[in-house]
Amino acid sequence: MARILITSAIPYINGIKHLGNLVGSQLPADLFARYMRARGNEVMFICATDEHGTPAELAAAKAGKPVAEYCAEMHEVQADLARGFRLSFDHFGRSSSQRNHRLTQHFAGQLADHGLIREVSEKMIFSIDDNRFLPDRYIEGTCPNCGYDSARGDQCDNCTKQLDPTDLINPHSTISGSTNLEVRETKHLYLMQRALRDKLEAWIDSKADWPVLTTSIAKKWLNDGDGLQDRGITRDLHWGIPVMKGDQPWPGMEGKVFYVWFDAPIEYIAGTAEWADANGKQDADWERWWRTDKGAEDVTYYQFMGKDNVPFHTLSFPATILGSGEPWKLVDYLKSFNYLNYDGGQFSTSRGRGVFMDQALSILPSDYWRWWLLSHAPESADSEFTWENFQASVNKDLADVLGNFVSRVTKFAKSKLGETVPEGGEFGPQETALIAELGVRIRDYEGYMNAIEVRKAAAELRAIWVIGNEYLQAAAPWSAIKTDPARAEAMIRLSLNLIRVYAILSQPFIPDAAQAMMAAMGSDDWTWPSDVPEAIRALPAGHAFTVPENLFRKITDEERADWQQRFAGKRE
Ligand code: MF3
Ligand code: ZN
Repeated sequence: MARILITSAIPYINGIKHLGNLVGSQLPADLFARYMRARGNEVMFICATDEHGTPAELAAAKAGKPVAEYCAEMHEVQADLARGFRLSFDHFGRSSSQRNHRLTQHFAGQLADHGLIREVSEKMIFSIDDNRFLPDRYIEGTCPNCGYDSARGDQCDNCTKQLDPTDLINPHSTISGSTNLEVRETKHLYLMQRALRDKLEAWIDSKADWPVLTTSIAKKWLNDGDGLQDRGITRDLHWGIPVMKGDQPWPGMEGKVFYVWFDAPIEYIAGTAEWADANGKQDADWERWWRTDKGAEDVTYYQFMGKDNVPFHTLSFPATILGSGEPWKLVDYLKSFNYLNYDGGQFSTSRGRGVFMDQALSILPSDYWRWWLLSHAPESADSEFTWENFQASVNKDLADVLGNFVSRVTKFAKSKLGETVPEGGEFGPQETALIAELGVRIRDYEGYMNAIEVRKAAAELRAIWVIGNEYLQAAAPWSAIKTDPARAEAMIRLSLNLIRVYAILSQPFIPDAAQAMMAAMGSDDWTWPSDVPEAIRALPAGHAFTVPENLFRKITDEERADWQQRFAGKRE
């Protein structure tokens, strides 16, 4: 039994995530966590909401709520949707927790003690009417590059040029609209990532097994242009983690908070501490996942994220960990994803384009979405959601292949042979061949799952469902029952057992359907089918089963057309 630590990139608090966000981190992380548990490993799966930064403050202002209240509410909304999608976190934490405050301040203190923090005096825009500095999105003005009149302080949305607030022409505050602004000097802390460049490079080079997407992005940021830049890790905001050196005040930093990207990944650790607190555990219980001096030396740590998050996880966060001089666990395997596009364009949160997590669950159960998203995960390239493709996958893979197998077998068995597993004779050559092929395919499936090759694993699982149907078609128990009833009984005995095996294999992808299949087979034995001949005999003759409700329904053309129209633009 191995110990597996899994974290998903933590979603921003401001608003409900779309399916592209989901498939880029939380969902594949859940697939892997479920699989690793199913194989009998000890798993710790952590996610959280990312609650700091200007997006959180602005969203709260727009909702007309104090930011702490807004975050608490949105955390519950996101936690609820995570449950709806059956995301099996051991803990869904909050980056605004006291645990994260203390740990973030601790890391900053360690970095300072190791000479890795320097103070930089910067010119920032101060709004006299708002009585505050205006970082990032708090200021807008005309882009000096293209003339677009609503460029933000950090970037122009029209020409994508990265900007500094002081670059903007005719700037105004997005809080009050005030143009009564002045430039003031203010001090900020910088993490001296450059000093850690060689260590980081050696560490990245030691990860020969990482996906190409991950390594190429890490290398690009390490080497491009001026190479690794020192990073500002503080901001002039009200909401966030106060800048402290451990538990000591930081002279000159009063009223400032840490930059959201400094504290967010630390929440992976803090979230595990929150798990301990929530479950009446001791510090030692979470530290054994994170401290290599306290039991984590045998932990394998996997991270899941979209490609835009890779630089922060291959450079900035490791710089925090390495620079602390303490034995914290670094990531062992970093699985990153490309983007999922939506029906000929991009998902867009601001324009409400695409399907969002709450909307998805309001039209179909989570398994339908999980199956489509995972079997089309944007691994080697960006992929695209289209309603046609979604309809085809659901109707073919889930309804025609898996659902149909389960329903044909159970209905036939019940009507012709009764509601217990029939006796029948020994298995013949057809059954032996099926068992052998199943053995090979399950080994392949395990290989893809271990390697987190999500699409290939889905394709293999589908192939495993298909061979059950092909067997049934070829063996034709409905004919055999007329001439050789014992043969027909053996076929059905095998097929009912196959449903239980399907439940176990399919559980990481479609947990609800898997539960329904297992329950219909009157079993609670989720032992992984490593020994197929044994697994296919687990339900003995005389064991009671039931016919489950239709596992999957088909999507009609009318529904498809209706949804396509409903999710084309602005959210209702
Ligand atoms: N909230 C970020 C995003 O959605 C991800 C933060 S991941 C963490 O892109 F490492 F910072 F936690
Ligand atoms: Zn511009």
